[in-house]
Amino acid sequence: MKRLLAVMLVLMLLPVLSAGETLIIGSEAVHPVSPTLYGLFLEDINCAVDGGLYAELLRNRSFENQNLWNPGHADHWEAWRTGLQKNATAVLEDISPIHENNPTYLHVELESGGLMRLQNQGFGGNALRGGIAVTQGESYDVSLWVRGDEEAAQEAAVEVALRDVAGNSLCTEAPVFSVTEEWRKVEAVITASESAGAVLAVTAAGKGAVDIDMVSLMPSRRVGKDWPGGGIRQDLFDMLSSLHPSFLRFPGGCVVEGTYVRENAYDWKQSVGSVEKRREIANTWGGMQTMGVGFYEYFCLCEELGALPVPVVHAGLLCQARDVKDPPLTMDETKAYAQDILDLIEFATGDKDTAWGSVRASMGHPQPFDLRFVAIGNENWGSAYFSRYEVLSDRVKEVYPYITCIVAAGPVAEGNLIRDSWAQIRRFFPEDLVDEHYYMDSSWFPSHVQRYDNYPRTTKVFLGEFAAHEPVQGNRRPGTLYAALCEAAYMTGLEKNSDVVVMSCYAPLLAREGSVDWTPDLIWFDDDSVFGTPSYYVQKLFSEHRGDVLLESACDGDLFQSVTGSGEEIQVKVVNLSENTVPLTIQTAFSGNMSGKGLMLSGEKNHVNSFAKPEKVAPEEISIRTENGTGSVELPPWSLLVVRLVPEI
Ligand code: AHR
Repeated sequence: MKRLLAVMLVLMLLPVLSAGETLIIGSEAVHPVSPTLYGLFLEDINCAVDGGLYAELLRNRSFENQNLWNPGHADHWEAWRTGLQKNATAVLEDISPIHENNPTYLHVELESGGLMRLQNQGFGGNALRGGIAVTQGESYDVSLWVRGDEEAAQEAAVEVALRDVAGNSLCTEAPVFSVTEEWRKVEAVITASESAGAVLAVTAAGKGAVDIDMVSLMPSRRVGKDWPGGGIRQDLFDMLSSLHPSFLRFPGGCVVEGTYVRENAYDWKQSVGSVEKRREIANTWGGMQTMGVGFYEYFCLCEELGALPVPVVHAGLLCQARDVKDPPLTMDETKAYAQDILDLIEFATGDKDTAWGSVRASMGHPQPFDLRFVAIGNENWGSAYFSRYEVLSDRVKEVYPYITCIVAAGPVAEGNLIRDSWAQIRRFFPEDLVDEHYYMDSSWFPSHVQRYDNYPRTTKVFLGEFAAHEPVQGNRRPGTLYAALCEAAYMTGLEKNSDVVVMSCYAPLLAREGSVDWTPDLIWFDDDSVFGTPSYYVQKLFSEHRGDVLLESACDGDLFQSVTGSGEEIQVKVVNLSENTVPLTIQTAFSGNMSGKGLMLSGEKNHVNSFAKPEKVAPEEISIRTENGTGSVELPPWSLLVVRLVPEI
């Protein structure tokens, strides 16, 4: 404190710099910066996972599609169209499937010389072409499960090929598979002969009855090819990886609870094992979850990203904010359900001789995953929640005392609800990590930068979902530079309070153009393009410029700033949330010279990125030097400056 007063005194005695502002950086560490401060939240909303991160290019590959909002209409044909057809019929059947979890398959009857072509058009392609966007010269892994009757085994075959909608070939080879009387997976690699909007055409020809299921098409170049689910898209992985997340929260969000908790809550056990035996579910946001990115793939993804897993499980009730009349699990049901959570922890961390550890090992990962957290409940509150949370978290703590349980504090930033949640938590669960969620108007963020200054330091906070919201334009909230800078201003407050706010993540993470459930989102994509919003760059710049400790700093005027350090290096973050250019003097306690590489994010307040202009708002490099402790830089209007200063040798 004395030190900070001294810093402020120096600030007052500085020569007149009325045209600008001065940032004074002390040398004392205030507290360590939480090493887990910046992470990600992955939920299958906006086709983020199926149709997004998951490398599967076909939609409804196993004919299980359901329409959650119209359950009477199970849309099992979705994304499939009939092409050429001669002396043949095709129906969907569920008489003798590959596995009971995956009941529906395609049944084709071929009369002599028969031919039936079905084509899948994927998730909508890219903005220009439609279909599945394939690239000339790129190879694709194709597979399907096939079976036939005795006659088909002698006289029928199945061909797969990339084609245009008129049936013209778009690939250099079109593999043909024979038919056996038992279900069998067949695979091949095909190469696109053109860059085009394609369909995957599956053609059964000959004579007899042929069954087809689990038709899959994935780019050969992808991450996690050897994961049972098949892996994830390289370009989206790269976007996530360049955020350097220290954790990954998954799978929800509302996705964890389902529409009715007893009927279709996310069941992690149905998301592991062989992919053809996983049970698909329609998720809360209306899409189908194939579970191709299930809990095994999630843990593997965390490893690839160098991020700690933060799995979320439901707490036996829906999020009350959804106001769906769905009775919570009874306390007896809750006690029984606790075993599912223990089994998940065993799946992740158990020795390969344990029941669930052996399932993980059989999937390809004998070593345990580094699981340290479990979140129980999403955005819940009130006694119905806390009584169930107590039962569930007690069991976890009893069996796995090293796991930190994460307790929900509801879906709002202010008011009685969150006050009551905190009162309950401080009284009954002070050791647990508290999951706050809030989506607020952009201007709320800079005016609440000090939110955590007076939080007691004992119970720690996980800001598990947040984003600055601009007014809706058309049917979307735009991801503007202004919103991003409001978040940046707020994040300087998170850094300054990272002795209590130990984790934070923006939400939602990903959105496929054309499948939008929620805006704004951090990253937008279609089949073959991807761009980050200004908020993406804010998250990236903060994450890339983390320090080990918070340093004392003071700044006059209206700028928002935080300064951290690691050894002799200093990381400075300054936000100018005004329409004026602000000359900034940086004064460090280091009397020698320092040079700095900086990144500046700036533009007009309402600038956004788009498929047409993906980097309209993107950081630009700048250099800064301090001589004898002092340096200067101009902050453009509406800007974030992030600088790493190191002593010159
Ligand atoms: O991030 C989108 C949704 O917002 C999440 O599913 C839910 O937790 C919150 O209401």
